[in-house]
Amino acid sequence: MKNFTTNRIIHGDATAELAKLPDNSIDLIITDPPYLVGYRDRDGRSIANDRNPDAVLPAIEHMGRILRDGSYMVLFCGWVAIDQFSKAWTDAGLRTVGQIFWQKSYASRTWHTECRHESAWLLAKGRPAKPEAPVSDVREWVYSGNRFHPTEKAVDILTPLIRAYSKQGDTVLDPFSGSGSTSVAAALTGRNSIGIELEDRYCTYARTRLAGVSRYRDRKAAA
Ligand SMILES: C[S@@+](CC[C@H](N)C(=O)[O-])C[C@H]1O[C@@H](n2cnc3c(N)ncnc32)[C@H](O)[C@@H]1O
Repeated sequence: MKNFTTNRIIHGDATAELAKLPDNSIDLIITDPPYLVGYRDRDGRSIANDRNPDAVLPAIEHMGRILRDGSYMVLFCGWVAIDQFSKAWTDAGLRTVGQIFWQKSYASRTWHTECRHESAWLLAKGRPAKPEAPVSDVREWVYSGNRFHPTEKAVDILTPLIRAYSKQGDTVLDPFSGSGSTSVAAALTGRNSIGIELEDRYCTYARTRLAGVSRYRDRKAAA
């Protein structure tokens, strides 16, 4: 039995909250931290700490500690600050075992290139057993509509990752959870979850979305 409560969204700072979780207690981490790029969407919305590595990178050390030995972490991250992120995850004892690309049908911006992909890194702690059905590392992007958050990940992007890299009943953690997309995907795939988020308004959205999944399940069970 794990001695902490799952299926909740914690309002707080990732590093401070992760420090409270025991070693080797989480079966899968999927997270989409601020990419450290100073992002701003068309409506001028930005992401907290998106230019502040000191508020983001120390959390990765705890991720390496609390992840169960022999399990996976998926870290969404672009290329701009990749040196800082990869140093942080290597120092945390995590090994790079794959990179996943999602191709977009549109350019999210045009700079030195037309930017038409999203990427995530598949990391391992120790030697996980080979997944029964690993995901393809080139995939089609699904646009979330960014209804709840300026960089919201579609649940359909996350569910295949959760299915491939964890089991039913496992605990999935997202320490930069935003509007709770990872927790929603975990609930829909029969996993437990913990989300941590700094901004209160996103915690509220995440809890509302999770309550919606519970209501949907209850209705289905009663039908
Ligand atoms: C890229 S967004 C995640 C969006 C999320 N994947 C979704 O689908 O809604 C990163 C989130 O990390 C949060 N954040 C930034 N610094 C944080 C910190 N130190 N601790 C916890 N959350 C933080 C931001 O407020 C933001 O919501």
